[in-house]
Amino acid sequence: MNERPLGIGIVGTGQRCMHFFGPHIRAVPDKARLVALADRDETRLQSAVDDLGGDVRPYNSVESILRDPNVDALVITTPDFTHRDVFDMALDAGKHVLCEKPMATTIEDAVHMTRRAKESDPTVQIGFMLRYAPFMVRLKAIVDSGIIGDLVQVTAAEVVEYYHGAAFFRRWHRFRKHSGGLLVHKACHTLDVINWIVGSTPALVSAQGGTDTFVPKPEAALRCRDCELTETCLAAYDLDDRYHNYIYQTGIERADPTRYASDLCAYNSEKDSVDNASILAEYKSGVRLSFSFATTGRRHERHFVLTGQRGAIHASQADGVIAVEPVGAEPETIVVLDEYRDEHGGGDTLLVDSFLRCVAMRERPVADVVAGLHSVALGVAATQSIDRSGDVVVLRPVLAQFD
Ligand SMILES: NC(=O)c1ccc[n+]([C@@H]2O[C@H](COP(=O)([O-])OP(=O)(O)OC[C@H]3O[C@@H](n4cnc5c(N)ncnc54)[C@H](O)[C@@H]3O)[C@@H](O)[C@H]2O)c1
Repeated sequence: MNERPLGIGIVGTGQRCMHFFGPHIRAVPDKARLVALADRDETRLQSAVDDLGGDVRPYNSVESILRDPNVDALVITTPDFTHRDVFDMALDAGKHVLCEKPMATTIEDAVHMTRRAKESDPTVQIGFMLRYAPFMVRLKAIVDSGIIGDLVQVTAAEVVEYYHGAAFFRRWHRFRKHSGGLLVHKACHTLDVINWIVGSTPALVSAQGGTDTFVPKPEAALRCRDCELTETCLAAYDLDDRYHNYIYQTGIERADPTRYASDLCAYNSEKDSVDNASILAEYKSGVRLSFSFATTGRRHERHFVLTGQRGAIHASQADGVIAVEPVGAEPETIVVLDEYRDEHGGGDTLLVDSFLRCVAMRERPVADVVAGLHSVALGVAATQSIDRSGDVVVLRPVLAQFD
């Protein structure tokens, strides 16, 4: 066990740091101490230091935060394409790592990071909070109980709420070179939960998909502030800020809108990510997956039909309902608490608790690097298959080394 609270540094003081990791780590002082923050953008860094307060030390580079001897563990909340380099530097410096999802934007980077983590001593965990969310934990436990027999098939869907879906097409996420595309960046959580429940390695993937909603609108402007359609536009940037855009809230954006503007038109922005897709996959164990992803929902929803050799489970995360329908036994409906029904399912704080426990007890995290790799591999392979009109992408050889 650690004798003092774990010293945590966070690199990347954007949305995820300021809306979750920073405040949460501050809230558990008996277990962890927020000692340092790093960002290459000095305005964002200063604002984060002012907000999180205390004796947190600011650094303007990854190299400098890693030289701080009080940093025992690094939380990586920089954009996805930077994860590999920051991750390598953190492990070179001997720090424990909690790396946000997706672990990487390419299979090559994810394979490299998996190998690095396996050869390194520090604890490495990936930010898959759904593995800790009570709804998902319950769903997996029911499948693992064997009540529907061996799993044969998974049918799943994720529908992202429209305004949230649109937000991806205003920010860096809209380019594959930054995020891998939304099947890697966003669908990674649902794909990971499915991989975890199936308990096998993805082997074959094919997909169809495209960008059908967030397509150019000649009648709209490039910025919401210049657009005459905002009254009726479903994606108009919301100045009441219902998504709590950190740089808007803090005034950073208003002080320098040319540099930090968040009101890019989700339709007219340049992009190369799909906004919807249908994926078919087969696992090494033979379990088959059919998964649909879309970005135009009224609310955020993940829906699952898990079919075994003796029955099925129907589950809706947004409704918090798991209906267990075994053949030859009584059906049962489980309803989880309201606070476990949102997109993160109450898993965020449990993910951090688990990381701190894994570091202290030298345990292997449930959301480990192989989970990170499998989810990146499925998302990247599906994107490649879409580019090749649905050709099957074979993942077996590259993933087999970590079975
Ligand atoms: N688990 C989840 O559900 C969840 C939710 C949101 C974001 N995320 C992940 O968290 C990460 C951050 O997302 P975000 O929305 O906070 O992004 P963001 O753009 O709001 O913030 C990223 C910050 O990183 C800084 N940065 C970029 N490159 C850097 C570098 N090389 N060195 C130092 N700082 C650098 C930027 O200046 C910015 O302040 C992403 O990987 C994202 O996928 C995960």
